[in-house]
Amino acid sequence: MSQALYAIPGAALPEPVVDTPTAPPSTTVAQVLARCQVEPVLDELDRDLVGLAMLKQRVRDIAALLVVDTLRLGFGLESRTPSLHMCFTGNPGTGKTTVALRMARILHRLGRSRKGHLVCVTRDDLVGQYIGHTAPKTREVLKRAMGGVLFIDEAYYLYRPENERDYGQEAIEILLQAMENQRDDLVVILAGYRQRMDVFFQSNPGMHSRIAHHLEFPDYGADELLRIGEAMLRDMDYAFDAGARAAFGDYLALRLAQPNFANARSVRNALDRARLRQATRLFADRDRPLTRADLTTLVAADIRASRLFAQAPAG
Ligand SMILES: Nc1ncnc2c1ncn2[C@@H]1O[C@H](COP(=O)(O)OP(=O)(O)OP(=O)(O)O)[C@@H](O)[C@H]1O
Ligand SMILES: [Mg+2]
Repeated sequence: MSQALYAIPGAALPEPVVDTPTAPPSTTVAQVLARCQVEPVLDELDRDLVGLAMLKQRVRDIAALLVVDTLRLGFGLESRTPSLHMCFTGNPGTGKTTVALRMARILHRLGRSRKGHLVCVTRDDLVGQYIGHTAPKTREVLKRAMGGVLFIDEAYYLYRPENERDYGQEAIEILLQAMENQRDDLVVILAGYRQRMDVFFQSNPGMHSRIAHHLEFPDYGADELLRIGEAMLRDMDYAFDAGARAAFGDYLALRLAQPNFANARSVRNALDRARLRQATRLFADRDRPLTRADLTTLVAADIRASRLFAQAPAG
């Protein structure tokens, strides 16, 4: 893969202040915020991600809890580390992986994650095919994730009730233990479709009871998808002209009605194809000196050449 799928969030933001052992404990929220520098990361989340208002608020609530916890600690109050294991439910392309990366960063700033990294896995990384293979595999993943966040995508595949001898159950047991005993040093985020996750929790109540925060990722509306598309283009030094913007709006209306629509992921794929058409258009014009605008602008034809328009009924 030549291009990173995800930018490292918060990479260019101010670093937290490292306290000296003699520094007096913070007594105000402002002091904690000034030291940990979590606010720039939260602001960046608000700015970079289109929509998701409820979710952004939940993330701020979790941050507030951890800030208050820090203050309590300064007063010597009981501060049993709150469980921070989470479940992200939503359809494909709704931003679950993206937010998990940001969450890892936020937890790091708030002192709830030593290293701030995110380890993304699926069933195949945890479950072996033969007897005796699962425990070492799962333990290895846990070891890599310690001090950070373990993100288990499509977590319900760990549980296969139709197969009595499935090793997934073994992985679940080991995960449950780690989620309980090492919760000071590990945050687990389970992700997947809402309905399947509900079924998974019904069969695995132990898992359900260890999840402190359930965060829902709704499907995006057409307007949000258009704004997401524009933001993605901006990141890549491209832009729609007015005609392309209108054409992309029409494209989204058609695409939303199709099966297998995957929200922001489908937007990204559509834009990749539009860039391909733009390149082909420019390539055909060999001797014309190209301007910066030529190279960065997608025009209506780059969008309207999509097969989707050919299939659509006229009018
Ligand atoms: N609200 C948003 N604003 C801007 N870009 C977004 C938003 N949501 C998702 N994206 C972008 O869409 C792409 C897909 O998002 P992501 O991979 O986080 O979705 P997902 O829910 O994990 O999907 P999947 O279930 O397919 O793994 C990423 O490139 C991400 O940056
Ligand atoms: Mg994902």
